[in-house]
Amino acid sequence: MRSTHEARSFPLPSQSGPWKARARAELDAARTRLLSMLEGLPEDALTRQHSPLMSPMVWDVAHVANYEEQWLLRRLGAPAFTDAEFDSLYDALRHPRSSRCQLPLLAPEQAFAYAARVREATLAWLDSLPEDSEEPLLLGGFVFGMVAQHEQQHLETLAATLQLMTSHPYLPRGRALSRPAAAALHEVFIPGGTVRLGSDAPWVLDNERPAHEVDVAPFLLDSHPVTVGDYLVFVESGGYEDARWWHPEGFSWVRSEGLRHPLFWLPERGGWQRRRFGHVEPLPRDEPVQHVSWYEADAYARWAGKRLPTEAEWEKAAVGSDGQPRTFPGGEASPSPEHANLGGDAWGPAPVGACPAGRSADGVWGLLGDVWEWTASTFDGYLGFQTFPYREYSEVFFGTNYRVLRGGSWASAPVAVRNSFRNWDFPIRRQIFAGFRCARDAR
Ligand code: AVJ
Ligand code: FE
Repeated sequence: MRSTHEARSFPLPSQSGPWKARARAELDAARTRLLSMLEGLPEDALTRQHSPLMSPMVWDVAHVANYEEQWLLRRLGAPAFTDAEFDSLYDALRHPRSSRCQLPLLAPEQAFAYAARVREATLAWLDSLPEDSEEPLLLGGFVFGMVAQHEQQHLETLAATLQLMTSHPYLPRGRALSRPAAAALHEVFIPGGTVRLGSDAPWVLDNERPAHEVDVAPFLLDSHPVTVGDYLVFVESGGYEDARWWHPEGFSWVRSEGLRHPLFWLPERGGWQRRRFGHVEPLPRDEPVQHVSWYEADAYARWAGKRLPTEAEWEKAAVGSDGQPRTFPGGEASPSPEHANLGGDAWGPAPVGACPAGRSADGVWGLLGDVWEWTASTFDGYLGFQTFPYREYSEVFFGTNYRVLRGGSWASAPVAVRNSFRNWDFPIRRQIFAGFRCARDAR
């Protein structure tokens, strides 16, 4: 994929303009969600290792606060609560998730109190700042947006931890999701040509910058993500046993792990069931499949005679082929529940077709929310990438080890997703809320 520097100028999307009210609202929304997700969990549930893939939940709570202290309060010159030695306890790169239980972490009560004190100082600092500071961290309120997005990303991580937890009951209700209009799966033709990828809007993260143009060949993209029902056909027709469909590394991995279906599916109880948090329930055939690795997505696509889209193709489909820049597939407004299943309240994906208002300009459904969508692309910086404000958010992960995911899941907050947002993970990961959709060359 060739990229060129942006030649034209584009109007700034919605996040420009007065930012203090939005910063306060997003910080409040994140904290309200954090407290409601963890409310009522006993100390043992918060401090225990539920999976080697996840931190003890109390680590996430104090990490979010320590991040806010380091990158917001201390950078803006506020007096410190803690020191560098304390920072290292909550440094994600220094301690692998599976070892964090052995650290002298704050106990739950102290972690919540630390988070509350830091937040109080952040909001006081916010009140005292001018809207028009020229300090790079404050342009458009960037660092407040970064902190709110970071907290929301960790709330999605906590949702994955709660899904893995079996030692304690966790039975979220979930709101009623609208049933879909009958929108049969079809392929949408996306014309080729130049597309503007990435964004320079004030709250986008460093790996989304700079906005730039790339050429994309015409292609066909599935109107919906692959459903549980679709995926079940692949499973039941022996897809996991047939090397033809698999990336060689993926096939040795499923063989050595003995995998035959997505994570959390239960084949044994008189027909297929799944575990979703504390519920065991029938497999919902009309939902996007989730908890599949990149290798499983890639194998399904090959079996179906298709392939995964590149991230440039995904973003072109999300922005639309009419040449208008769009922050979200359905337009500039922050997505509401009619546009996308986001924010975590549903505790699972909605049936495909449940959010017609969020269709893209070209008629692609469900690009935002429900499940992250694996793409064919590895994670790298765009041409002209500059680390901001620290290397450990993006840059240290660039290379060929990770695959890019797009679009957010039901557990992602609206502030933490947009057409240009890039997530990444290892191709074997399945505890994340990830699914996929298929693409095909047009000819
Ligand atoms: C963007 C989801 C890959 O969880 O590792 C959280 C987000 N970065 N704290 C992650 C993140 C620092 C990151 N992902
Ligand atoms: Fe983090």
